[in-house]
Amino acid sequence: MNFLNIYPNIPVQIKEAEGCYLISDSNKKYLDLIGGLGVNILGYHNLDCERALSDRKIVAHISNLYLHPLREKIAGKLNNLCGMDKTFFTNSGTESNEAALKFAWKEKPGKVLAFEGSFHGRTLGSFSLSHLFIQQDFPRIDTPVEFVYWNDPDDLRKKGKDAAIVIFEPIQGAGGVRVMNSACFDVLKELQNKGAIIITDEIQSGLGRTGSFLASSFEDFHPDIVTLGKGLGGGLPLGAVAMKERVASNLKVGDHGTTMGGNLLALQLAEVVLEKIENGLMRHNMEIERNVVEDFREELGIRGRGLQLGFDVTDGKKFADEIREKGYLVNIIRKNTVRLLPPYIIKEEELRKFFKTVEDII
Ligand SMILES: Cc1ncc(COP(=O)(O)O)c(C=O)c1O
Repeated sequence: MNFLNIYPNIPVQIKEAEGCYLISDSNKKYLDLIGGLGVNILGYHNLDCERALSDRKIVAHISNLYLHPLREKIAGKLNNLCGMDKTFFTNSGTESNEAALKFAWKEKPGKVLAFEGSFHGRTLGSFSLSHLFIQQDFPRIDTPVEFVYWNDPDDLRKKGKDAAIVIFEPIQGAGGVRVMNSACFDVLKELQNKGAIIITDEIQSGLGRTGSFLASSFEDFHPDIVTLGKGLGGGLPLGAVAMKERVASNLKVGDHGTTMGGNLLALQLAEVVLEKIENGLMRHNMEIERNVVEDFREELGIRGRGLQLGFDVTDGKKFADEIREKGYLVNIIRKNTVRLLPPYIIKEEELRKFFKTVEDII
């Protein structure tokens, strides 16, 4: 094999894709509940995305040396949607968190708090803040990083006393689809009032997936910096760091940069994606939780909100094999957690049928 294959492959060769479905080379049709790991918000072959990509006027790349109205427009949209003042574009989630850490550091250098079970990316800064990699032997950033027990407000208050920066996921994704409790949000507000810079990693939970544009809004929490990625670029690499003026005002020319970040093709798709999130899909995600997920939540032990969902099974691999036979693709994390990040266009009947199939299997 020429490709460095360091992924836990799913034994299906994909031939075609349409809407929420993937079709294998043996013509088996699967409802895709992984959604390209949360990227394919609009499903596959969205016509408006394809139309936007075929716009002959658009050039893929001009670099950030030039100002461009499209970049300004999407930054403005994100500032409005996130309640922020300035937005910087990147190519990925991990790059957004790297930038966020540097931007936060400029305002307040010092001890960084992250959480047990966290996942913020695989480049060395984000890696250093990711508790899931605590056992991996790679270099780490040279600043104190302390991990707080998940959903333990007392531990957060204790370790937060001398913290300069805190980064957290409102709903941990790779850490098991675990929702942060209100008591921890209250302590985060206290720490923020005392001057700590709070970064909310909404790379998985943001963009309306939970029924609100940012999952932290459910707790009326207003971070200093928000990071986004995944589906923002409609399948093209695009991330964003939205920040308060307090953070942005410290940054000057040369402090940070990216050659490809915010390339025009990805921004062209972001315009389509954001328009659809605002005009219906975000509400759909809230409604599908209320109308479908709630019917199964207790019985299956479902965690998460909107369309960021997870539940535990006894044997993840066996479950994934069985449900795949029945035409569903799911993502297994931490051996026995089934994680669902479906496209926002999934219909209520489709999700209900999936959960009924789960009931039959377990
Ligand atoms: C919460 C969170 N942060 C950061 C990342 C890293 O994003 P990327 O893989 O685009 O670098 C991910 C990816 O799954 C994520 O879920």
